[in-house]
Amino acid sequence: MKKVRKAVFPVAGMGTRFLPATKASPKEMLPIVDKPLIQFAVEEAVAAGITDMVFVTGRSKRSIEDHFDKAYELESELQARGKDELLDFVRNMIPKNINCIYIRQAEALGLGHAVLCAKPVIGDEPFAVLLADDLLDGRPPVMKQMTDVYDYYRCSVLGVQDVPREDTRSYGIVDARRVAERLEQINAIVEKPKPEEAPSTLAVVGRYILTPRIFHHLENVKPGSGGEIQLTDGIASLLSEEQVLAYRYDGVRYDCGSKLGYLKATVVFGQRHPEVGPEFDAYLKSLG
Ligand code: G1P
Repeated sequence: MKKVRKAVFPVAGMGTRFLPATKASPKEMLPIVDKPLIQFAVEEAVAAGITDMVFVTGRSKRSIEDHFDKAYELESELQARGKDELLDFVRNMIPKNINCIYIRQAEALGLGHAVLCAKPVIGDEPFAVLLADDLLDGRPPVMKQMTDVYDYYRCSVLGVQDVPREDTRSYGIVDARRVAERLEQINAIVEKPKPEEAPSTLAVVGRYILTPRIFHHLENVKPGSGGEIQLTDGIASLLSEEQVLAYRYDGVRYDCGSKLGYLKATVVFGQRHPEVGPEFDAYLKSLG
């Protein structure tokens, strides 16, 4: 019985919605207070028992690789200044048993193509996909909730939530039938349907557990919505031979790919921050 040990982080996207901030640096490095989005996603994977982090990167993404590397100069500087607490912090950002693997997506051909780029490192194992711009705040962390579902049902699992009908054109939308609390069996999935054509309002958020059979389907799908190789289309094709479940996760999602979602996350995590939280909260209240 294979466990989910590997996670794919597609981080080659352009981040056009955050220009000019994302002109030369990746959107996944945007911080919520002091922690970059990509680190939230990696910590969520770590909490689910995942040990191999596979980043599918592209141009202008070097800072992600640097972020998870040992920072010799910074460490010696902090040591020299006696900043032991900060030194400990940067040294132990991720547990020692975690492997970071980087793959380049030479051309931005879509999310499905990005996942397919990870095939040589994933091999014949189930794996997770996390889109770092969806920041999910759940207890237990959402990917841990999903690996628990996977361990029981042994099939692909997609994180989903209800969205307003007018928003279906921003998401993969599933047609599904309830099988248990929080769980639905997917009959069909479509990428970014118009509101009047959407089969439901149940939307896929950026969390997936997929069986390795997805690669076969991704190799065969044609470019879809936006002319890109869509992960959603690969999953639609996978449905012809395997069960796929939709899991209504327990938690709150911040769409940090949008300015408003990003601001909301910043406020909530700012209020909760151990160092500045109480003062920030008092400041917000003083604004009325
Ligand atoms: C991607 C997927 C979409 C999914 C969404 C979740 O779209 O293609 O199916 O619902 O992530 O955030 P994107 O937001 O990259 O356009």
